[in-house]
Amino acid sequence: MSQTLTLRRPDDMHLHLRDGAMLAAVAPESARDFARAIIMPNLVPPVATGAEAAAYRARILAALPEDAAFEPLMTLYLTEATDPADVAAAAASGLVKAVKLYPAGATTNSHGGVRDLTKVRAVLEKMAEIGLPLCTHGEVTTPEVDIFDREAVFIDTVLDPLRRSLPDLRIVMEHITTEEGVAYAAEAKNLAATITTHHLILNRNHLLVGGIRPHYYCLPVAKREKHRLALRRAVTSGNPRYFLGTDSAPHVDALKEHACGCAGCFTATNTMPLLAHVFEEEGALDRLEAFTSLNGAAFYGLPPNSARLTLVKSAEPTAFPDKITSGAGPVTVFNPGFPVHWRVAS
Ligand code: NCD
Ligand code: ZN
Repeated sequence: MSQTLTLRRPDDMHLHLRDGAMLAAVAPESARDFARAIIMPNLVPPVATGAEAAAYRARILAALPEDAAFEPLMTLYLTEATDPADVAAAAASGLVKAVKLYPAGATTNSHGGVRDLTKVRAVLEKMAEIGLPLCTHGEVTTPEVDIFDREAVFIDTVLDPLRRSLPDLRIVMEHITTEEGVAYAAEAKNLAATITTHHLILNRNHLLVGGIRPHYYCLPVAKREKHRLALRRAVTSGNPRYFLGTDSAPHVDALKEHACGCAGCFTATNTMPLLAHVFEEEGALDRLEAFTSLNGAAFYGLPPNSARLTLVKSAEPTAFPDKITSGAGPVTVFNPGFPVHWRVAS
């Protein structure tokens, strides 16, 4: 006896595809289920100009299987040298859909990010004028601030002042992980928030109890259980400000299982079945489509996808691959730690 659920094809509004051998391995994993994705620009060196975004987009398209129907939506990495005119031209051509703010030092390849927001004021003003969203990695990097508090402190000390000083700037709070993030995104104007698959599943005990689980380490780091529950309430609330950004962030196992392991969970392969499991647990399967396929497109001013994706629930648990292989080495697929009976119909 199986159950099915058919949705508009989903969009992943926060995705790391990397470059080279890793790109070749992970691009097909996202293209299998997703129609579009907002592509994060934190390569080495970062994708910082319109020309670099155009070249990266071409490399992504070249890495896709021939029959793939997948559109990469490009972003620019904001630096203190970003030229407002270049951003405006890249947006006007349709190439670039957002600019990403990484506070310098906040996460993987963020050292070229922003130290002083006043230095990027002209770019932000131009973006507010043309309606181009700013995607924010919302964590302060001040050494004194505890890593579990960095999101809440970012909201109070960076995000809220920025919004007050530039109310027309459209902002996406990326991968929110706290009840403070959920509450802040709930009401404000020109604001939305992405939520990842893994933050709906993990709390910090999963990361740390019984041994450290490097494949559950990501940034922002998983928080207390009450925060995970707040995220689950948010995604099933029907509020259109919350939408899926998987933050699927592949690193080879050698760099995850390491004395100083990289941050990132690789969820591209099994996100949709995991989300069906989560939404079913919450009694909210009827709200999954809005979260994965409607709210994000609406925020970015894109039409919803017309193609459909069908999920199937079977009595037998689905066997997801433990790893995918890449030319750079194996990459572990996120394992939720419980059986999942949903799969995407082939
Ligand atoms: C991301 C990565 O590896 O690029 N890592 C992560 O833990 N999420 C960067 C990011 O989005 O913070
Ligand atoms: Zn990310």
